[in-house]
Amino acid sequence: MNVLLVGSGAREHALAWKLRQSPKLTDLFIAPGNAGTAALGANLPLNASDVEGLTRAAKENRCELVLVGPEDPLARGLVDRLAVEGIAAFGPSQSAARIESSKAFAKALMERHGIPTARTAVFTNRTDARNHIQGLEKPPVVKADGLAGGKGAFICDTKDEALRAIDMMMGEQAIFGAAGRTVVIEERLSGREVSAHAFSDGRTTLPMPYSCDYKRALDGDEGANTGGMGAYSPPAWLDADTARAIDERITTAAVNAMMDDETPYRGVLYPGIMVTPDGPKVLEYNCRLGDPEAQVLLPRLKTDLLEICLAVANNRLQEMRVEWSEQACVAVVLASGGYPEEYQTGFPISGLAQLEPDAMVFHAGTALAKDGSVVTSGGRVLTVAALGDTLVEARAKAYRNVQRIHFSLRHYRRDIAAPAQEARVQ
Ligand code: AMP
Ligand code: GLY
Repeated sequence: MNVLLVGSGAREHALAWKLRQSPKLTDLFIAPGNAGTAALGANLPLNASDVEGLTRAAKENRCELVLVGPEDPLARGLVDRLAVEGIAAFGPSQSAARIESSKAFAKALMERHGIPTARTAVFTNRTDARNHIQGLEKPPVVKADGLAGGKGAFICDTKDEALRAIDMMMGEQAIFGAAGRTVVIEERLSGREVSAHAFSDGRTTLPMPYSCDYKRALDGDEGANTGGMGAYSPPAWLDADTARAIDERITTAAVNAMMDDETPYRGVLYPGIMVTPDGPKVLEYNCRLGDPEAQVLLPRLKTDLLEICLAVANNRLQEMRVEWSEQACVAVVLASGGYPEEYQTGFPISGLAQLEPDAMVFHAGTALAKDGSVVTSGGRVLTVAALGDTLVEARAKAYRNVQRIHFSLRHYRRDIAAPAQEARVQ
């Protein structure tokens, strides 16, 4: 079977690597892919948001399944467009993807179905939003309703900061364009964050193991918010009761709620959770795999990913048994110095052939130079991942291999899955 995979990050390289292990796979196309995916299939020079171009490519290359990595093509209706052509897809429809592409939609869904989340108010009028903030007891979190490339949440320490966020989004500047015209103002929660993920075909929900990512650029959770600087799985600190509560009251509950509301959810659902003193609460729902969470989950997946994707696309997930390795996995992101702000690209990457045999490297911002060598081409450049019988072992192996890869101005966090932090009590 030919498959088209959409996206260009380390998540997509990990998906390509896992798909390649399937005896069912014939040709793999990746649009647009990176230097890593080029070794596993054919990269197609297309924009991952070009719904028409992607649909045409799927048809031309006789792909029977399209796997969509990032949220943007999902929010643009790629899965619906493919359905018109009779091409199966792994990912939610445009209306189901609203669970991520509209925070107001997700909040209304949670409210209607009693899913635990932060207290929230939604505004489309700037004056009303400002008045609401003035009347609050504590500084809130202010979020753009729509997709803002992971930059749409302002965790405010003062009300003034919150008012400024409103002005930047709803005023003339409109920093997120249409995505920020509606804002969600919510209570600031405290606790530890955990990423939940599940496969769903609309009716059946199969939760994956839990994982944690590191959003800030610098050690000790300092610096700017990024797409994610590293991850580990499983989090030993998450107790079984809380894990079960998340599975039932947050993950499965959302899939059932979407079914009840006649927008069945197919694909991967990824609730971002804050484990608060009052129990787990939803920070947001995402309509895809997390990145870098995918780089610690997919190495632990024992079942054929292509089989799972087909079961999801054909509504037969109920028949699947999905198995996971007991091993722990740690992933460290190597980024370009300066990311997520200004950074330079085009630097040669050395050491990729010198890794330990079972260490994994998933490319993101990499490109092939004319002479076939690999150079940096983005902010997050690579993820190095390793499995181990314990988290400590996985972490040691990941960092040993990180140190073998070099490029100018390389930056990575030294504290991913660090014992002190992993064991930290709330
Ligand atoms: P979001 O885009 O909604 O996932 O928010 C991005 C990040 O902001 C989350 O991963 C949290 O670290 C933080 N965050 C979001 N909502 C809240 C909240 N209500 N309270 C505290 N932190 C939050
Ligand atoms: N790791 C965060 C995200 O993928 O949204």
